[in-house]
Parts: sequence; C-alpha cells; structure tokens
Amino acid sequence: MQFKTKELKNFILGLILNYNLMKSYKVSKGLKGNPIIPGDKSISHRSIIVSSIANGVSEINNILKSDDVLHTLNAFKKMKVEIEEIEEKIIIHGKGLNSLQKPNEELYLGNSGTSARLLTGLLACQDFDTKLTGDKSLSSRPMKRIAEPLELMNANIITTDGKLPMEIRGKKLNCSNIDIKIPSAQVKSGIIFAALNTDGLTQITENNITRDHTEIMLEAFGANIDIENIENKKIIKIIGKQELHSKNIDVPSDLSSSAFFIVSALINKNSKMLLKNINVNPTRNGILIALEKMGANIELLNKRISNNEIVCDIQVISSDLKGCELDEDIAELMIDEYPILSIAACFASTPSVFRGLSELRFKESDRLDLIYRNLKKCGVNCKIVNDDLHIYPSDKYIVQHNEIETNYDHRIAMAFAVMGSKLGPLYIKDANSIKTSFPQFINEFKKVGGRIS
Ligand code: S3P
Repeated sequence: MQFKTKELKNFILGLILNYNLMKSYKVSKGLKGNPIIPGDKSISHRSIIVSSIANGVSEINNILKSDDVLHTLNAFKKMKVEIEEIEEKIIIHGKGLNSLQKPNEELYLGNSGTSARLLTGLLACQDFDTKLTGDKSLSSRPMKRIAEPLELMNANIITTDGKLPMEIRGKKLNCSNIDIKIPSAQVKSGIIFAALNTDGLTQITENNITRDHTEIMLEAFGANIDIENIENKKIIKIIGKQELHSKNIDVPSDLSSSAFFIVSALINKNSKMLLKNINVNPTRNGILIALEKMGANIELLNKRISNNEIVCDIQVISSDLKGCELDEDIAELMIDEYPILSIAACFASTPSVFRGLSELRFKESDRLDLIYRNLKKCGVNCKIVNDDLHIYPSDKYIVQHNEIETNYDHRIAMAFAVMGSKLGPLYIKDANSIKTSFPQFINEFKKVGGRIS
C-alpha cells in the first residue's frame, strides 16, 4: 500500500482516534451475572502508604492495580521501600516512620489526586525535599487546600499558583489544632499522615464527615489515634512519633466501581447481578441510600467485617425507579457517584434534584459541567442552578450528538458507557482514562451482556 504524506497522516490519526474512542451500545436482553469488581481505590492507596511507614512485613491482597494506585506504589519504591509483587499479592517491608529515603527524582503521580494530597502531608514531615508532579488534569487541580492547613503546622510547601508542580521542603513540624473547612477525605488524610510523624498532640476537626478509611486502617496498625463524633463534627486526636506495627490487609472491592454495574442492572429490563465482597463503609454508602430512595431493588447479603471495614455482597435487580431530591449533606458520602446517579435519574418516572455539588467542580474534570453537557448531548432535559443539578426524565430520548466528552475523567467515561447501554451507540472520547480506577471495566461489562467495544 502506497501512502502520500497527507494520507498517511490521516490514516494514523484515524487509528489513534479509534483507539481513544470507546463505543457502547443498547442492551436488549438485560444484564446478568457476577462481574468482578476490583479492589477499593481509596483503601488500596492507604494500604501502600501505611504499610510503608509501619514496622514489619505487610501482605496486601486484592489491591487495585490501576494507574492511580500504581503511581502511589512507584512513589514508595522511589523512596526505597522494599516492595515485592507476587502474583496478585503485594508485600511491603516497612521500616518505620522515619525510614523513607529521598527519591532520586521527582514523584510523578499521573492523574491521582489521592496520591498528591495524601503524600503532601506525609512528605512535609520528612528530613528531605521532594517535588510532586502530575498529568495535565492533576496539574490543574487545587493543592492549596492541603498546603495551607499543613502550613499551620509550619510546613514549607511551594506550589505553582496553588497547583502542581509542588516542592515540599521536608522539616520537623509543630503539632497544632486544625479545623478543616473543605469536605475532603484527601485533605484530612494528608494532615493525619503529617501528624503521625510530629511530636505531641495534633487535633483535627472535620466539619463534614468524609470517608474514614485512613482512621480505620491506622487504628488497626496501632496508631495513637482517638476519634470523637460530636453531632455532625468529628474530632481526631493523634499523638505523633508512635511507631506502627505491620498488618496484613484484604482490600475489599470498590463500591464506587460497583455503582456502574448496579445502575446498569437497575435501568435495563430483565437484569440481575451479584457483586461480591463490596465495601459498604457508612461514610461511603450514599449511593445505596440514594438508590433505595429511588425505589431500587438492591439487597445487601452476607454482611461481615473485614479489617474493621464493613463488606457484603450486593444483589441488584432491574427496577422501576422514581426520582429523588438529595440535600448537600449526603454529598460527602457519595461524592464520586453523581455521574452514575445522574444516569439512573434519567430513567426514573419523576424528576430529581441533587443539591450542593460544588466539590464536583474540583475532581478529575469539572464533573458537574460535564454531566450536564453530556446529558444534553443525549437529549436529556436538565439544568444547573447554582451548584444544584436538576434532571427531568423522559421515556424517550432523541440523542442530539453521540460523541461524549470526558476530559480524561474515568467516572464520566464509565457513567456514559452505562448510558449507552440504554441509548446506544454512544462514542466515549478518551476512554483510556478508565484505567485510572477500573482497568477491566470493558471486559466485565461485556461479561454481563453489555455491548461495548
Ligand atoms: C478520596 C477522596 C475523595 C474522592 C476521591 C478519593 C480518597 O476526594 O473524590 O476519589 O481516597 O480520600 P476529596 O477528598 O477531594 O473529596
């Protein structure tokens, strides 16, 4: 085959475009089976961090091997932590709170906000300097929210206009009382990691309860941490410089990743799925509360405790959903699930309003704007009023434009793949981002009968 330069260029561009576009099609016979949901992303990050600064060997099972978590893993390898990967297990040889060593180069964290915020706290109290960098999306996300509270502990953090690249000049920090204004588990966890290696009592007040995997894991590793809940506030007291003891961790499967399958089963007739070993920590389970309000047929079976986290199997059957109104106080309990909840709302019998979604603007993309714009492309009547999302469902949608913009946001890509299972075909741009949290999503979706390529 002979190509002229321009033709060759177009041919290559076509290939690249095909690679980056994921197509999802309508399902008619229902979605059925037991998709395998990968390990919880938040717990996976924390399992690497906490085991690396504990004393002794920790074995981690079912860790999520997605791009985001691998960035955290590589960061600790670069700080000379001995980490073995044996089949599905990860074995970490922790050597204590002060065992990390200066990396030879900057720590590149890809798309991972969790790695960036948690590591900032941990690195601020080391006796070496580090530089954190990330991809285009992470480099546009706010880092002052973690730098500023750490500065109250005397940390020396130099951001680039409040963002990455960020230089962290490691030093001895002062214990302090810190009041967290922004509802963010990443910020809270970053401060906790700084407090662990700081002399004296650090007291953190959380004004909105967010996911508590860091606190749960640290208690299990023997940290000197005390937690008090007062009305809607939480006070966390940490006495620093107490060594942690290694522990084996079984990472439960991720409720946020399950949500794509739960909603796809609910909205497609004749569907039934069983999702096994899912973490249903009450600081994360807002999506289940919301879907229950909408009349979803979801059963939590075989509830049990594993590593102090609540896990269960989730059975879900196609349901006639009704709309619901959610106030902002539930947002922290389901902050990552609004893209997929919005898809569920499109197939309900009455309108929905989701209030207080300002934090969605600071995620891997401006999620509020992308949900709105892509729903419009799908022909859905919706609007944003202040930071509230209103969705007016219809029993017939006429797709206006079937190319979905994701801005490399994995949760937007997966949510609209599920939308495609009802409206299809939809073309999801830059769907590679799915690897940040759920590398096997397409395979698992096909396994339950989803048509996706
Ligand atoms: C996470 C906290 C949340 C969430 C993110 C994971 C964590 O972010 O959106 O996907 O593991 O702590 P914020 O703390 O910014 O709300």
